Amino acid sequence: MNQIQPPTQSVSAEDWAHERGQKWCDQLAAMEATLDPVDAPLIEAGRLAGPLRIAEIGCGGGGTMLKLLRQAHPGSSLHGIDISPALTEMARSRIAEEESDAAIHTANVESATAPDGPYDRLISRFGIMFFDDPQAAFSNLYTWLSPGGRIAFAVWGPPPQNPWMTSLREAVAQVMDVPEPDPDAPGPFRYAGGEKLYGLLQAAGFRDLEIRDWRGTIALGGGLPPDHAADFAFSAFSLGDLLADADETATTAVRERLIQRYAQNEQDGAVQMDACVHIVTGARSA
Ligand SMILES: C[S@@+](CC[C@H](N)C(=O)[O-])C[C@H]1O[C@@H](n2cnc3c(N)ncnc32)[C@H](O)[C@@H]1O
Repeated sequence: MNQIQPPTQSVSAEDWAHERGQKWCDQLAAMEATLDPVDAPLIEAGRLAGPLRIAEIGCGGGGTMLKLLRQAHPGSSLHGIDISPALTEMARSRIAEEESDAAIHTANVESATAPDGPYDRLISRFGIMFFDDPQAAFSNLYTWLSPGGRIAFAVWGPPPQNPWMTSLREAVAQVMDVPEPDPDAPGPFRYAGGEKLYGLLQAAGFRDLEIRDWRGTIALGGGLPPDHAADFAFSAFSLGDLLADADETATTAVRERLIQRYAQNEQDGAVQMDACVHIVTGARSA
């Protein structure tokens, strides 16, 4: 069996600031269409009643931010913060078309002071799983909130409940040795159990912590047939990068297996698979 390197699949904040951020930007429309169903439960968990100062952590290319802008109460302000210059530039160009009190900042939220804080709400769709020092990062974010301010963060649940993401790894593993990811390293399944994140947030000072699961269906790329969904997975997921080093026979075999797997979940011409997201809410003491 072929062996592919490197030995980990972690994605650090530094990666996001450079290649990974650019890659996300290149796949933005398909990534955002894939993640779209998570916005409604996340925004609801953010409890946006009344005019609020809202910050979106790891705002990426701005898809969630556009929805927050439209759903926030009149008189609210919204700041998106992300470490990737490519993504913040994209987000900035998209919100420029909106009439709103909104701004985008390029910063590492692990250590930056709140750009225009304090905030009443911190919201994040999958932007809090890549910190180098999570305890320091969550303690820092605690200081971004006004007393009584609230958080709503979305992170992925366990891998077996997210086959839309794990199918690529399974297809690769049928063809070549693939290293086990370090469950504590920065990456999409870092808080899959929920309790690790709960403990970090509690130690940072957050109160009234609650984790609720959203379970639903994810349409890969927003509604792609199996072969196009496989192309999307190859170019969008970090595991796809590892395949760049594999020989063509192995890559073709992985692609065929992935297409077969996706075909089992094709509905109305689109690959639709189960997903599980932890939505974590909490507050700074009043
Ligand atoms: C999985 S993407 C999610 C992007 C966006 N929230 C979405 O759902 O489309 C993670 C985002 O978090 C950002 N990010 C990761 N670490 C960060 C940090 N330390 N400070 C600021 N942004 C960070 C990345 O640049 C990236 O845009």
